[in-house]
This record gives sequence, structure tokens and C-alpha cells, in this order.
Amino acid sequence: MNAQPITNGGNTIFIPGATSGIGLALALRLQAKGNTVIIGGRRAELLEELAREHGFATVAIDTTDAASIRSAATEVIARHPDLNVLVAMAGIMRIEDWQSADGFLADAEAVVTTNVLGPIRLIAALIEQLRSRPDAAIVTVSSGLAHTPLRPTPSYNASKAAIHMLSESIRLQLADTSVRVLELVPPAVATDLLPGQAQSPFAMPLDAFADEVISLLETQPEAHEILVENVKFLRFAEVRGDYDQVVGTLNTSDPHAGA
Ligand SMILES: NC(=O)c1ccc[n+]([C@@H]2O[C@H](COP(=O)([O-])OP(=O)(O)OC[C@H]3O[C@@H](n4cnc5c(N)ncnc54)[C@H](OP(=O)(O)O)[C@@H]3O)[C@@H](O)[C@H]2O)c1
Repeated sequence: MNAQPITNGGNTIFIPGATSGIGLALALRLQAKGNTVIIGGRRAELLEELAREHGFATVAIDTTDAASIRSAATEVIARHPDLNVLVAMAGIMRIEDWQSADGFLADAEAVVTTNVLGPIRLIAALIEQLRSRPDAAIVTVSSGLAHTPLRPTPSYNASKAAIHMLSESIRLQLADTSVRVLELVPPAVATDLLPGQAQSPFAMPLDAFADEVISLLETQPEAHEILVENVKFLRFAEVRGDYDQVVGTLNTSDPHAGA
């Protein structure tokens, strides 16, 4: 299949998790390329403000809630029957201390529910719609931390490793359909994902990251993974054979590593 780059325009793209950060930065750029973009999230006031400011279609959705996902998906399909791209962006990151249950269990459950069950339920709610379109895509969002662990965030790292393998696996199942599976693999990017992350000197500036992603979507439409240069250090550590060294460097240079 000769996939059309999403950046060519003419797509109808649903991005649950676009009220801020990477989702919003990509929503703005994808809309500017001539796509219809529907943004989703829990913060209703922000959704209204972004709709007013930028003309996005919006839907309120809490991706930890199966019923909310189903009703948001039904609403999006009813209003936008051409929907052909899902970007499963919504995610959280929590710092955990695994030396006692109180230090991690509630956060671990929230991370798995949001970052793993959320995308699974979103895909379940939309796969038949996507399959009905002649050229469709699911964009999953993993992380460089799927491949190299950051010490304070075990469940987050594991949730993103799950998303990586889920993406690899469903791509095989959907190979003979009209639905492509792309995995966005961000490095540390300056957003509000964690307190202090937006100011972290270790994080890539959001605009630079989003511009590089758009350029990769344009120039490498057949790529399975969207890999900006900065993430290759983490993504390919094991492949290069310098995994232990990269784990060490990450866990001494990232400002959150000492948390
Ligand atoms: N920034 C990084 O360094 C980095 C690196 C690798 C991967 N990522 C991934 O990129 C994605 C976006 O993160 P970000 O960095 O842009 O952080 P962010 O600014 O905190 O954005 C997170 C987005 O997810 C939404 N969200 C969170 N929980 C949700 C829920 N239960 N229901 C619906 N929406 C929910 C938030 O919307 P509401 O609060 O309005 O619900 C917000 O729009 C995440 O999957 C994250 O894991 C980020």
C-alpha cells in the first residue's frame, strides 16, 4: 500500500490528549496542513478556549473511563463520518517509590489505566470506523523510556514498552487492511507531563520536536516509528550494544532521575 502522508491534508484526525503539550502542538500543525482535527481531553474549559481560538472541533473524554471513551467515539463518528486517523495521545507520568506499596500502587494503577488500557479501549471503539475508510491510520504514542528505563518512573516506562509491543503486534494483524499503525516515540520534551519538565534543560523544546515530527511524517510516510534524532540515543541503546552506559547516562543527567 502506498500510504499518503498525513501531512498531505484532507484527513479527519481525532487526538484525545490534545488540550496541551505534544498533542496540541501536533494538532495545530496538522490542522495547518489542511486536515480536520478533533481534539479531546478532560479539561472542558480548555477545549472551549482552543475551539474558539483555533477552530478545532472538540470532544470531552476521560480515557480512564470505558463509557466516556465509547460515548466520545460515537459522538466523533456521528459528527465526522470521514474520521480516518486516531492519534492515541492521552497519557500521564508519575514518580513512584517501589520500596513500599504506599509509594507506588495507586500511581501504577492510574498509569496503566491511562497509558495502556486507554489506547486499547480507544482502538476498540474506533477500529471498525477506521477500517471502513480507504486510507486510515492509528498513531500510538510510546517513549524513548520504552527502551531505556528512567529510575523514578517504573510503571510509566513499562506502560510505554507495552505500547511499543502493542503497536508492533497490531501492525501485523492490520497489515492487509487500509489501517496503518505508526508509533510516535518522543524523547524528553518540554511539556507539563511532570512537574518541572517544561523547564528541564534535558527536554527538547516542544516546537522543535513538533516541527521535526511533521517533517518526518512528510518525508517518511512508510516508516513504522516516528523517531526524531534526539530519541535515537534511548531507542537504539540495546541495538548499538551500549545499553548499560545509556541507562547510566540517562539516570545521572535527567533532572527527574534523582526523584
Ligand atoms: N513530554 C515528554 O517528555 C514525553 C516523552 C515521551 C512520551 N510522551 C507522551 O506524550 C503524550 C502527551 O504528553 P505531553 O508531554 O504532551 O503531556 P501533557 O501536556 O501533560 O499532555 C497530556 C495530554 O493527555 C491528556 N490526558 C491525560 N489524562 C487523560 C485522561 N484520563 N483522559 C483524557 N485525556 C487525558 C491531557 O488532557 P486533559 O488533562 O485535559 O485531560 C493532555 O491533553 C503522553 O502519552 C506522554 O506519555 C511525552
